[in-house]
Amino acid sequence: MDTTALQKKHNELFGNSNPLLVRSPGRINLIGEHTDYNDGFVFPAAIDKAIWFAASKNDKALFRFYSMDYSQSFEMKADDLSKSNVAWANYLLGVADQFKKRGYQPGGVDVVFGGDIPIGAGLSSSAAVETGFAMILNKLFGYGESNMEMVKMAQKAEHEYAGVMCGIMDQFAIVFGKKQQAIKLDCRTLDFEYANLNLTGYQIVLVDTKVKHSLASSAYNQRRQECETGVKMLKKYNPDIVALRDVPLDLLLEHKNEMEDLVYRRCKYVIEENNRVAESFEALHQGNIRRLGELMMDTHAGLRDDFEVSCKELDILFDFAKDFNGVIGSRMMGGGFGGCTINIVAQSEVERFKLEITKHYEQTTGNKATVYQVEVVDGTGVVG
Ligand code: GLA
Repeated sequence: MDTTALQKKHNELFGNSNPLLVRSPGRINLIGEHTDYNDGFVFPAAIDKAIWFAASKNDKALFRFYSMDYSQSFEMKADDLSKSNVAWANYLLGVADQFKKRGYQPGGVDVVFGGDIPIGAGLSSSAAVETGFAMILNKLFGYGESNMEMVKMAQKAEHEYAGVMCGIMDQFAIVFGKKQQAIKLDCRTLDFEYANLNLTGYQIVLVDTKVKHSLASSAYNQRRQECETGVKMLKKYNPDIVALRDVPLDLLLEHKNEMEDLVYRRCKYVIEENNRVAESFEALHQGNIRRLGELMMDTHAGLRDDFEVSCKELDILFDFAKDFNGVIGSRMMGGGFGGCTINIVAQSEVERFKLEITKHYEQTTGNKATVYQVEVVDGTGVVG
C-alpha cells in the first residue's frame, strides 16, 4: 500500500505530518484448523496482504480513528473507553481496553488505517487490525509489553469486543510471521518452530468464494462448546485430560458409543487434525510437498463431514481443485462457512488453474471467485 496516502490523510485530519507507520499482515494456515482452541497445533504464516496504520498521540485525551476502507471517522473520549456500535472501531477499542485491564491508561491517539486484506475472506483482517493497534499503543506510550503479550491482548480483544471466542492462531501468526517461513505453534505451551516454506515448483494459491455466511461466528462458538462437551465426557476416563489435545484416538474410539454422534465426530476431527499437523511439519522438512498436499485434502474432508464448518461454495472449489491436474493440495481455510480455499498448485499450471476454477465457480454458483497468489512475509512491525 502507498503509505503516503495514509500519511496525507493523517495530516489532513489531525495536523501531524510525522506519524508512526505500522504494517500488520494477514495470514494463511497450511494445516491445523480448529485445533488452536483445543490446545493443539497449527501451522500458519503471514502473507503479503496487510493493514497499514499511521498513528500519533494527541493531547486531547481522545481516541480518533479513520478507516480508509469505510471512509469513516470515529471518536471517543479515552476516559469513556467502552464497546461502541461501530463494528470496525471495536477492534481498536477492544485492544485499548486490554491495555487498560493491565493497569495502563492509554491516552489520546489519532489513527488512520486501511489495507488490502479482503474483509470476510478468512485472511484475518480483524486480527491484523488488533495486533497492529496493540503495537501502536505499546510503542507510542512505551509500555514495553512483549510481542507474545500483545498477541494475547489482541486475542482477548476479539473475545470481548467482537464476541468471537477465537483461538490464538491468527494473532500469533500475524505478529510472529517470518519471510518464507511457516510456523508450527503449540497452542498450549506457545512454543513454536519455523519451517522453511520452500515449495520447489509449487505455489500457494488462494481462491476466495466471496461469501461469508452469517452463522459463521455463532457456529464457531458452538463448535468450541461441542469440543468442551467431548472433553468433559472423556475426562471421566482420565482426569488428566484438559483439552482434546490430550485425547488419544484409541480412547475416543473406545467410548464412541457412549457419546452423542455429533460430539464424537467433532472430537475425532480435532484429534486427527493434530496428528496431521505433526505429519505435515515432518513432510515439509523432508521436502515432501505431495504428502503435505494429501494431508490438506484429508483436512477438508474432516472439516466438511465431521466438523461441519464447510459450505456449498467451499466444497465446489475443493471438488474442482482436487481433480485438477497440477493441484496437489487443497482445502477450505480458517473458521469456515465461506472465505477462501488454500491450494498448492504446480507453478506451470497456475495460470490455467486460475482461469478454469473461476470459470467453473461462476458457472456453478453464479458468483465470481477471486484468486490471490500470496507470498509469505514478516509479521507486524513498524515501517517508519
Ligand atoms: C478462526 C479463528 C482461529 C482458528 C480458526 C480455525 O480463524 O480466529 O483462532 O480457530 O478460525 O482454525
